[in-house]
Amino acid sequence: MIPRIYIPGDSGALALGAEKVAKAIAGELAERGIEAKIVRNGSRGAYFLEPMVEVATANGRIAYGPVKPSDVKSLFDSGFLTGGHHKRWLGTPDKIPFLAKQTRLTFARCGVTDPLSLESYKKHGGLNGLTNALALTPAAIVAQVTESGLRGRGGAGFPTGIKWKTVLDTVGDRKYIVCNADEGDSGTFADRMIMEGDPFVLIEGMTIAGIATGATKGFVYVRSEYPHAVAVMNKAVEIARKAGVLGASVLGSPYAFDMEIRVGAGAYVCGEETALLDSLEGKRGMVRAKPPLPAHKGLFGKPTVINNVISLASVPVIMDKGAAYYKDFGMGRSRGTIPIQIAGNVKYAGLFEAAFGMTLGEIVDEIGGGTATGRPVKAVQVGGPLGAYFPRALFDTPFDYEAFAAKDGLIGHAGIVVFDDTADMLKQARFAMEFCAIESCGKCTPCRIGSTRGVETIDRIVAGIEPEKNLALVTDLCNTMKFGSLCALGGFTPYPVMSSITHFPDDFKPAPVRVAAE
Ligand SMILES: Cc1cc2nc3c(=O)[nH]c(=O)nc-3n(C[C@H](O)[C@H](O)[C@H](O)COP(=O)(O)O)c2cc1C
Ligand code: SF4
Repeated sequence: MIPRIYIPGDSGALALGAEKVAKAIAGELAERGIEAKIVRNGSRGAYFLEPMVEVATANGRIAYGPVKPSDVKSLFDSGFLTGGHHKRWLGTPDKIPFLAKQTRLTFARCGVTDPLSLESYKKHGGLNGLTNALALTPAAIVAQVTESGLRGRGGAGFPTGIKWKTVLDTVGDRKYIVCNADEGDSGTFADRMIMEGDPFVLIEGMTIAGIATGATKGFVYVRSEYPHAVAVMNKAVEIARKAGVLGASVLGSPYAFDMEIRVGAGAYVCGEETALLDSLEGKRGMVRAKPPLPAHKGLFGKPTVINNVISLASVPVIMDKGAAYYKDFGMGRSRGTIPIQIAGNVKYAGLFEAAFGMTLGEIVDEIGGGTATGRPVKAVQVGGPLGAYFPRALFDTPFDYEAFAAKDGLIGHAGIVVFDDTADMLKQARFAMEFCAIESCGKCTPCRIGSTRGVETIDRIVAGIEPEKNLALVTDLCNTMKFGSLCALGGFTPYPVMSSITHFPDDFKPAPVRVAAE
């Protein structure tokens, strides 16, 4: 049998040198006259081990990483094509602790299969969910998704089944499925990983959504910073169309569903669902007032499901294994699994899919291994640029929508950014206001004007001008933004600001005191 070598083609792995490694391996194969098949798989998400090269051996797959081009010659000399020992030897990928501790439902195939092989997809359970869905009525599919407890993974945590039911029950000559792949949150990369590593699962999820709600057309709105994801998705759609997964008759059924990939123009606010719809319609991305809900009047004024990549990519496993199976994972009203993305100043950065319920401390200290600098963790920001900063005192908070809300935080798209004790929380608070000022769509006053006034007021605290008075002013401003903004950009910017003030008061003291404390 020809040896099979897996080298990730995922953007994260490429950024860490996977292309150079692939070239070195291809060169070495040619020089040694060895015939082998190179598969450009997705990443398994253990980025601290990328580029992670795997070989298929008689005893299963064996991983090596992080591989540098300079390792390649010695890898061949060590007999790595048959799993030979080498300083980069990691053993069976499934047994690497970071991967072994995960519960992979949505990401089960990511890094395992050839992303653009429909055969490989089917061999690993792909299309089972769609096949099962086709045997049900649309209402029964919606009932399954509702029963699974799946909530939107884009940030708001809204129950997916309820959203789908609204679209199913709304009359429309045309309905749409829009996939939100804008992935603007800091420290997040789950959407990108799925699109690059297992694109058919998103296509399958969107097709099921179409059948369940009566939509015949889907759009994936991908951020412009993701050219690799756009390329893979476009190829995958073409393959799915040729294979009859998409088109006038989905898998030979009476249902029609097709989709297109669209590239965003690069604005954080275009991730907000109504601004995204404007952008998709070719307009400037401005937030729309609700009602009407997109489910009633969405893209081009038609009933529209708008869901995050991970919400849609989680549907196939629910339809394959059943709502009860999925619902069995998790805690409280947070059911199933969540791909936690660990980033920032952390030792083991990567994607960790787990059932809801792990504590923040377990994620940061045990899975993430603490900071990369080796200094104490000072704060972690959870949920992107609008998420709260959590101090170590709150590390017992379980990863659960309600538990985070109870601590004035949010899970968002499940990105965690770790900071060590050199972080200045006053600067972070200023950054949150500045970010809001730059990204504001400008539609409402608390956000458009408030964020700019927020930056100016924090600057006065930095300069030592009436710090107490200005701190009270920032707090007052945060309340105005929280309760008076039209969307969560202005409404949630107070979370990083107020959590910094509440949990790290020393950083807001006048400069001389701060210097003395240091
Ligand atoms: C400023 C802002 C940015 C957002 N960015 C994203 C994003 O990048 N991706 C995403 O899926 N949801 C984003 N959302 C949430 C969406 O508005 C919406 O809730 C989501 O697409 C719904 O899908 P879900 O129910 O599957 O989560 C953002 C919201 C706001 C207010
Ligand atoms: S809160 Fe900001 S981004 Fe949202 S609608 Fe108002 S101005 Fe636009």
